[in-house]
Amino acid sequence: MSATERPLGRSGVRVPALGVGTNRWSTGEPGQARLNETLAAAVDVGMGFLDTAEIYGFGRSERAVGVAARQDGRPVVLASKFAPLPVRLTAGQFGSALDRTLERLGRGSLDLYYLHFPYSLRGVETRMTGMARAVEAGKIRAVGISNCNVARMRKAAGVLARYGIPLAANQVQYSLLHRAPETNGVLEACRQMDVALVAYRPLAGGAVSGGSRRSHGPTALADTLQEVAAARDATTLQVALAWLLQRDDHVIAIPGATKPDHVRQNSRALTLELSDEEFASIDRASKPPPAG
Ligand SMILES: NC(=O)c1ccc[n+]([C@@H]2O[C@H](COP(=O)([O-])OP(=O)(O)OC[C@H]3O[C@@H](n4cnc5c(N)ncnc54)[C@H](OP(=O)(O)O)[C@@H]3O)[C@@H](O)[C@H]2O)c1
Repeated sequence: MSATERPLGRSGVRVPALGVGTNRWSTGEPGQARLNETLAAAVDVGMGFLDTAEIYGFGRSERAVGVAARQDGRPVVLASKFAPLPVRLTAGQFGSALDRTLERLGRGSLDLYYLHFPYSLRGVETRMTGMARAVEAGKIRAVGISNCNVARMRKAAGVLARYGIPLAANQVQYSLLHRAPETNGVLEACRQMDVALVAYRPLAGGAVSGGSRRSHGPTALADTLQEVAAARDATTLQVALAWLLQRDDHVIAIPGATKPDHVRQNSRALTLELSDEEFASIDRASKPPPAG
């Protein structure tokens, strides 16, 4: 396996450690030509892992990703998500949502399909049965969940195990400004269960480098990132992404980007190795102050 690739758990699917989030590919504002260039840049730099969802712009992001992937023509790993809306109760509705996603992406199968969020009248268990059938039908290669706590991870993995299918990923919010997966047990469960932790909003929407949040130490996170970045001839965002990847090898990050230059810049994090000291100083600076 290339050092810049990581496995999606035990699914057999490998992806670049950094992908591209496409929730803003739905607005129409960047224009398809620039999105095509963004996807091409991602493939050029080894980040050809695109994260979309049917609810991003009601299918517009999936369509834009599909157009860009066809225009480029090189292999890319595509992930999308099923939204368990309250009106969607039946297996037929799950199947037709997946079919529409595949149609918009212009693909016969999807590399990774997530349950977008767990809140639904049908529990995670029912949705995982639909996922297992879709794997058996050859429509998806790997099954993920998103925004799920440890209990739901275990439930989802348990249902899939009955079909001999591993849970591949839990996609949760994770950045230096949002370290909840470290305290709510999700990161530890990913390690124990060998499930990928796909980090969404890994740049905190860009705020990670400019935040003024004070740590219990003398230096703010932004200052520490700037110090490390200056020493490594890197940007603060590159350092923030490198830190996440270095935190644990189950972590895969999907920074959102609608500009080819942003993708090219982010790719430096794939090879930027922080020293133990640099890693620890960022760790300290980003930890919330102790209570009391
Ligand atoms: N599962 C879920 O419930 C869920 C929820 C939220 C998000 N997501 C996924 O996670 C992805 C990432 O989250 P996000 O996009 O909200 O936040 P993010 O990745 O933390 O930040 C994206 C923002 O950072 C900017 N950016 C990226 N690279 C940059 C660079 N090198 N220099 C300067 N700015 C840079 C982007 O600008 P440009 O657009 O101008 O390039 C965009 O404004 C989403 O796209 C989506 O796929 C999933």
